[in-house]
Amino acid sequence: MKAIGIHRHGDASQLVPLELPDPAPGPHQVRVRVIASSINPADVRARSPSPGPRRIERQLPLVLGYDVSGVVDAVGPGVEGFAVGDEVFGSPSLFGQGANAELAVVDSRTIARKPPALSHEEAACLSLAGVTAWECLARAQPAAGATALITAGAGGVGHLMLQLARHLGLRAVATASRPASTALCRELGAAVVLDHATQDVGQASAGRASRRRSTTPAAARWIRRSTRWPRWAPW
Ligand SMILES: NC(=O)c1ccc[n+]([C@@H]2O[C@H](COP(=O)([O-])OP(=O)(O)OC[C@H]3O[C@@H](n4cnc5c(N)ncnc54)[C@H](OP(=O)(O)O)[C@@H]3O)[C@@H](O)[C@H]2O)c1
Repeated sequence: MKAIGIHRHGDASQLVPLELPDPAPGPHQVRVRVIASSINPADVRARSPSPGPRRIERQLPLVLGYDVSGVVDAVGPGVEGFAVGDEVFGSPSLFGQGANAELAVVDSRTIARKPPALSHEEAACLSLAGVTAWECLARAQPAAGATALITAGAGGVGHLMLQLARHLGLRAVATASRPASTALCRELGAAVVLDHATQDVGQASAGRASRRRSTTPAAARWIRRSTRWPRWAPW
């Protein structure tokens, strides 16, 4: 298969066309014929030459791309609920090969059927940032009416968290600096937008945001109660 990836860590000039063997799906995995993938900060970190304390060592050549949307092309043993031809979206493992390729292997427990109303391009922007946004809110377990401080409200994660906050009945305080990102935060329901470039966000938001913590199992129960996307919560 054709892919884009790296033979060595470095800047974006290290991204090169690759010709790799077609991957085979293992237990619980499906192989997806990729229609769209995306770029997240995780791609930049995986490509980065700096070791860093949280660097995940990956095999080279490495294919980046930690979101995928496409059509199931083959299923591995133990896969339930998906068949060849299904339109799906989800996230390839951060520990394996990504989806900037013609084919990507993904754990079937971390994918969902693509809603017909979403294009593949839209779906491929949703899963990694969306699960991050969802998990942040799930861990905090905010009660309806609570106030949530959402930093970088117009960012990949933040703009999804603002929409989830509205869905959950939260009052959102967002941060943004540019006029366009401030306007997007307001459009997505932020009650207050703080400028992180000119304001001390910590001081400005002190006392405005509710802080709650929960254990992961409790967060998982909360996700199951609250979500209509149970496949996004593979616990
Ligand atoms: N994307 C993912 O799937 C994902 C998953 C896990 C973790 N994360 C982490 O979540 C964080 C956000 O990721 P992202 O994908 O949402 O990034 P992003 O889309 O690149 O976020 C860009 C936003 O960050 C804002 N920003 C820039 N400097 C800021 C500052 N000093 N304080 C507050 N906001 C600032 C910008 O707002 P203005 O333009 O208005 O200044 C811009 O809207 C990163 O640390 C990332 O590593 C992301």
